[in-house]
Amino acid sequence: ISAVKGEYKHFMQKEIYEQPRAITDTIRGRVDFDNMQIVLPELNITAEQIRQLDQIVTVACGTSYYSGLVGKFFIEKLARLRVEVAYGSEYRYSDPILDERTAILAITQSGETVDTLAAIEEAREKHATIWSIVNAIGSQAMRVADGYIAMHAGPEIGVASTKAFVTSIVDQYLLALYLAQARGTLSQDQLRQAIHDVSRLPDLIGRTLEMDAAVQELAQALYQYTDFLYLGRGINYPIALEGALKLKEISYIHAEGYPAGEMKHGPIALIDESMPVLAIALKDDLYEKMISQIEQAQARGGIVIALATQGDSFIAQKADHVLYVPETPYLLSPVVNVVPLQLLAYHIAALRGADVDQPRNLAKSVTVE
Ligand code: G6P
Repeated sequence: ISAVKGEYKHFMQKEIYEQPRAITDTIRGRVDFDNMQIVLPELNITAEQIRQLDQIVTVACGTSYYSGLVGKFFIEKLARLRVEVAYGSEYRYSDPILDERTAILAITQSGETVDTLAAIEEAREKHATIWSIVNAIGSQAMRVADGYIAMHAGPEIGVASTKAFVTSIVDQYLLALYLAQARGTLSQDQLRQAIHDVSRLPDLIGRTLEMDAAVQELAQALYQYTDFLYLGRGINYPIALEGALKLKEISYIHAEGYPAGEMKHGPIALIDESMPVLAIALKDDLYEKMISQIEQAQARGGIVIALATQGDSFIAQKADHVLYVPETPYLLSPVVNVVPLQLLAYHIAALRGADVDQPRNLAKSVTVE
């Protein structure tokens, strides 16, 4: 096994570092650069059939569910199609409203998560179109679907998902553009810009990985705390959820992800000098709001770590620690922002001597209900 891990201490670390290459593989072959079009023949659907759809329901579990929360923004914004995101384990108990004008999008790295498969079954009985985004080729979720999109992340060994998360997000971006082409919701210029943006991701993530030493140093300062709060807004709220999930999965530290605007309705009561608060506060439309939430956390003694846009020196006066990420177009910013949060969870877990690749009580793929 150590040979396979190569220069890395853990598979999770290796898989975090593989993300630029994995995303390159995800995009490869899906863009027809001559015609500036997305091609997804495995989705197995015509433009006419796409135009018949009136909603998409994403079903997934764990990290894949948070990927779906990000993808909802893409499909709604770029293709103007309504998206609902549901937990695989809840969906079939909700008497869901769906019919032949619904496409179910199951996101699952393993393709074998039993709750996600059960949600697919529920949708099949109600005549929805079934799509899956899978990493494991030949898995059940791929076989039972009408069409699929592969993540092309390569084998993911660490129980805590990393490269499958980012590649499944990129897959949903490509899907959103593909749907937009059929629905005519983007101009040729907008489509060209979107393709350009997604093509830059491997480079942006490569640059983000250069902050690893800074994240490790931060982990030194934080690894003995027992409760963390992660705040985000808009498309980065799911990244706050995912950052908190990574930390609890592998370090066994209690961590909560919260939409920053809801902090005043509960979590603020918990904040004191024993609580690190990680705030995703980029230079986007929500920046001013995030700054005011950082001020509130700090006024209560919280240890504020800001995830900020490179060049933002103002925020350094507001936060105790700052992690800088390269400027990225808003819709794709989650893919970059999750990387330092993966690294932070990884280093904190390693410092605590936890079994990073095989955390207690967790399984890579949950095939029981
Ligand atoms: C388990 C894993 C998670 C994963 C989830 C969903 O809980 O530990 O890392 O996100 O299952 O797995 P799937 O294979 O369906 O994406």
